[in-house]
Amino acid sequence: METSTHYMQRALALARQAEGRTSPNPLVGAVIVHNGRVVGEGYHRCAGAPHAEVEALRVAGAMARGATMYVTLEPCAHHGRTPPCTEAIIAAGISKVFYATGDPNPLVNGKGHARLAAAGIAVDCGLCEREARELNRPFFKHVTTGRPLVTAKFAMSLDGKIATRTGDARWISNPASRQRVHHLRNLSDAILVGVGTVLADNPCLTTRLPSSAGVRHPLRIVADSTGRAPLTAAIFDPQLPGHTVLATTTVAPAGYRAELAARGVEVWTLPADPRGRVSLPALLDAIGQRGLLTLLVEGGSELLGALFAEGLVDRVWVFVAPLIIGGVGAPGPVGQPGAARLAGALRLRNLRVELIADPADADHALPTQPDLWIQADVAPGAFEQTEVEEGESLPDPPTGRGVGKPGFPVCSHHH
Ligand SMILES: NC(=O)c1ccc[n+]([C@@H]2O[C@H](COP(=O)([O-])OP(=O)(O)OC[C@H]3O[C@@H](n4cnc5c(N)ncnc54)[C@H](OP(=O)(O)O)[C@@H]3O)[C@@H](O)[C@H]2O)c1
Repeated sequence: METSTHYMQRALALARQAEGRTSPNPLVGAVIVHNGRVVGEGYHRCAGAPHAEVEALRVAGAMARGATMYVTLEPCAHHGRTPPCTEAIIAAGISKVFYATGDPNPLVNGKGHARLAAAGIAVDCGLCEREARELNRPFFKHVTTGRPLVTAKFAMSLDGKIATRTGDARWISNPASRQRVHHLRNLSDAILVGVGTVLADNPCLTTRLPSSAGVRHPLRIVADSTGRAPLTAAIFDPQLPGHTVLATTTVAPAGYRAELAARGVEVWTLPADPRGRVSLPALLDAIGQRGLLTLLVEGGSELLGALFAEGLVDRVWVFVAPLIIGGVGAPGPVGQPGAARLAGALRLRNLRVELIADPADADHALPTQPDLWIQADVAPGAFEQTEVEEGESLPDPPTGRGVGKPGFPVCSHHH
C-alpha cells in the first residue's frame, strides 16, 4: 500500500499538467483512494473548467463513498464560476481529506476546512506543503498583492555581458537555451520588454515551439513612455498571433496611440513615475487586474535595472554562456546605478542550476560547452542606495534580508 505522500505527489503532478493555463485560478490536482486503490484523479485545466476535486469525484463515482481525497489546495467553500467543492465532497461521502496548503484567498482561507470538518470529514492540512506553495507561487502572489509573479530573464556571457562593446548580441546562448526560452514563454501569461529592446532588436516575442499544437502566446507588453517604438515594429504587426500592449503615458502623442489601437494593439495609458517613465508598480497592477499571474521580463538592461531598483522582481532565470566577451564598454544585463555597496546588493536564494547542452553539438568534432541555466529567487527588497563616503569603513556583512510572505495562511492552525 502506498503512503499518503505518494498520493499527494501524484496530485501535485496532475496539477502541474495545467501549468500556465489556469490564470487567474491556481493549479490544483486531486486523487481519490479507496482501500489502497486510486479510484479517481483530476486536475483543474483552465478557468471556467471544473475544479480538480469535482473532476476526480466524477471519475470515482460511487467508489468515492468512504474514500480518502488528496488535493493540493484547500477545497473552496464559496460559489465562484462553479459551485463549492466542499459540498460535492460531502455529497459524495468522502470520509477523509488531505490538502497540501491553505488558500490565501480570503473567500476560501480556512472556510473550506471548517465546512468539511463540520460535516464530520477528517481533515488534514500540510502534507507536501512546501511543494504545493512553490507550485502556486504565481497564484499566491496575485491573490495577496494583485500583481503577477515577476521573473527577470536574460542571457549573458560568463563575464556578465549581454553584448559586445559594438552591440553584437546575437546569439550569446546556444540554440537549446533559446528553445528553452520559447518553452518558458509558453508557460507565461505575459512578456514585458522596454522600448530600447524593440528599437535595437525588433523582436516578435511569439512562442515558437517544434509543434504548434496547444502553443500559447503570452500577452506582449512594451514599456514605451513617449511612443518611440515605430509603428512598423514587428511586435505591432496585426498578423502576429496573440496580442500586444503598448504601456505608455499621456506624453505619447494621441494620434500615435490611436493609430496603434486601430491596428489592434491595446494601449494602456498609465501614470508616469517621477522621471516621466511608465510607473512600473502601476503597470504590474494593470497586468494583475487582467487576471495574469506570471510576467516574464525579457530586458533590456534599463528596464531590468528599474524593476530591480524598485524591488519588483521575484525571481531570475539566467542563461550563462561559456564565453568571455570582455571590455568595460560592453553592457551587463542589469542597468541603472545598481547597488552602491555590497551590503545593498540584492541577495538570491533557492538557486537551481542546470546545464543546457545543444544536441546539435554532439556531431561536431570539437563539442562546444553547454550553457548554464540558473533559476533563483530574489530576496524581498530593493537596492539600498546609501553612498560610501570616502574613508568610511564598510559595514559588517548582512545577516540576511527579510523572509516570509505576509498574509499566508499557516496550516498548523488548522490541526
Ligand atoms: N541578452 C539578453 O538577454 C537581452 C535581452 C533583451 C535585450 N537585450 C539587449 O538590451 C538592449 C536594450 O536595452 P536597453 O537598456 O537599451 O533598453 P530597454 O531596457 O529594453 O528599454 C529601456 C527603455 O524602456 C523605457 N521605459 C519605460 N518605462 C520605463 C521604466 N519605468 N523604467 C525604465 N525604462 C522604462 C524607457 O524609454 P522611454 O523613457 O522612452 O519610455 C527606457 O529607455 C539591446 O541592445 C538588446 O539587444 C539583451
